[in-house]
This record gives sequence, C-alpha cells and structure tokens, in this order.
Amino acid sequence: MAINRIDHAAIYVSDLEKALTWYRDVLSLNVLSQDKKRIHLACRDDAADLTLVLGNRSVDNFTFGVDDEEDLTRVARILTDEGVAHERHSGDSRPGEGAALCFALPSGHRMRLATGTKTRRAGISDFASDGSHAPGDMDHINLLGEVSPVVMRDFLVKIGFKSSLNISVNGEPGGVWLRGSDYDHDIAYMRGVNPKDRLHHVAFAAEDGNHYFRLSDRLMDTGHRWEFGPGRHNAGLGKSTGFGTNNYAYAFDPFGNRNEFSSGMEQFAPDTPPLYTDIRPEQMPDVMNGWGYEMAETFMTTGS
Ligand SMILES: [Fe+2]
Repeated sequence: MAINRIDHAAIYVSDLEKALTWYRDVLSLNVLSQDKKRIHLACRDDAADLTLVLGNRSVDNFTFGVDDEEDLTRVARILTDEGVAHERHSGDSRPGEGAALCFALPSGHRMRLATGTKTRRAGISDFASDGSHAPGDMDHINLLGEVSPVVMRDFLVKIGFKSSLNISVNGEPGGVWLRGSDYDHDIAYMRGVNPKDRLHHVAFAAEDGNHYFRLSDRLMDTGHRWEFGPGRHNAGLGKSTGFGTNNYAYAFDPFGNRNEFSSGMEQFAPDTPPLYTDIRPEQMPDVMNGWGYEMAETFMTTGS
C-alpha cells in the first residue's frame, strides 16, 4: 500500500519524427508503437516509459506506479474529501499500464496513479545499465508552475508522498522535493521563472559514473552537448548529509524539453524528517553543483 516511483511521462513535441532523432537515435529508447499523434517508447522491455505526444512542448501528463487497485481507491477517497475531481480508467492508454486514477494537481498538471500488469510492478526504477549509454528506466520528474511550492507539497503529502527537501530563496518558497519510495525524491516542483513553463525536466536513471562517460560520448558523437553536468547536487551540505545530493547531467531534446540523467540518490527511512534550507540567489551555483561552479544560466531560467 504505497505510491512507488514515476512509471511513465507523456511530453509534447512539435514534430514526432524529429523527436525520434533524439529519443530513439541518440538515447536508444525503443519504439513500441507509433501513429500520427503519439509514439510510445520504452527504455527496455515492453512497457512504455515515455510517450511523445504531438503538440508544442512541455509535459502532457505523468504517472506514478502503485502496487494494487486498493491504492487507487485510497487516494480517490482523499481526492473526494478534498473536492478534487478524478476519474478511474481501465488503464489501456499505453503498453504496461493496468488500472489508473487521473486527477489534476493544484498547479494544473495532469497526474495519474496506475498499477502495472501481472508480471510488472509499476514505478520500480531499474537503475542497471546494459553496458551501453542507454538509460534503463525513468527516474523522477521536476515540474514548474505558478502556484506556491508549499501548496504543491501539502497536496502531495495528503495523497501519500513524503516531504524530503524544501528550499526557499531569501525566505520565499522556491522548490519542494518529495518521495513516494525511499529514494531521495521522486517528484519535485519549483516556481517557474517563465509563467508558461510547466516542466523543468523529466529524469532517466543512470547507473553510475561510467554510465555518464558513455552518455557523454554518445552526445559528443551525435553532435550534442550537455546543458549542465555531470555533477552532484549539493543542497549546501555535501554528500550523504541529507536530501538533495544526487548526481545529474542535463540535456535538451530538440524542442527544449530538458532531460536529466540521475544517479546516486540516497535512500531514507520513511520517518526521516524533511530538510528545510534557505539560500540566497548568489548561492545557487554552489547548491546546484558541489563539484564546481559551472551552472549554466539557462538551468535556473528556462523550462518548457
Ligand atoms: Fe531532477
């Protein structure tokens, strides 16, 4: 009875064929099915991890995995109590989905909780690399919006997430990181700089440092560059001293949707209290990378 990790994300792209030049040809995701409006992709096996939807850019919807339908019923009851509209679906929207519960977050983002299939638990990240550059799974999602991060955190806690990290900037709530699993974070939300932005990044799982080497070479060999990283988030604290110290590398797809490749998240006991930290804007490069001071300006100003 719990919410697991992210199981699937659907993002908008303005040209499906062009999108494949990144997601299929550079990252080596597998195309499961394709029509004129959408493409289902998998990191491995036959459950869709990412769906490209013909549109503009940004996030369409995303799904967190749950173990069984009782979890959906439990959250549906909470949503009813909160006056939040929701729908149950049979879960036929993509390969690998069982039953689903759909609703909107206070920010307007469309979120789903869904079970897997008889042979697959939904929302369990597979960090293992197959020895290539290709990511093994989805890892987490980081949203942008205009509503207060505190409102988002409180809503997500109500439906079953645990608060991990809360960063304020000069006393103003700036971002919140929460977990359904015992990993550092599974979902994050930050107040966007551009009012229209709804997505900061979707994250894939990287296994270890060598995986970043292989990904870095893959980007170079295909004429791409990282936006920022590889590096280690610092949260102002250093490694293994609290939430928010995972490794990262970020790159954009052809439409400006940011992809992260994340690794090395710590695991925390369910009752580990949240971390609250307040920083000044000029500390941002230090907080965002404990290894150096090379944060790209776009990282804090650009979303999709
Ligand atoms: Fe992230």
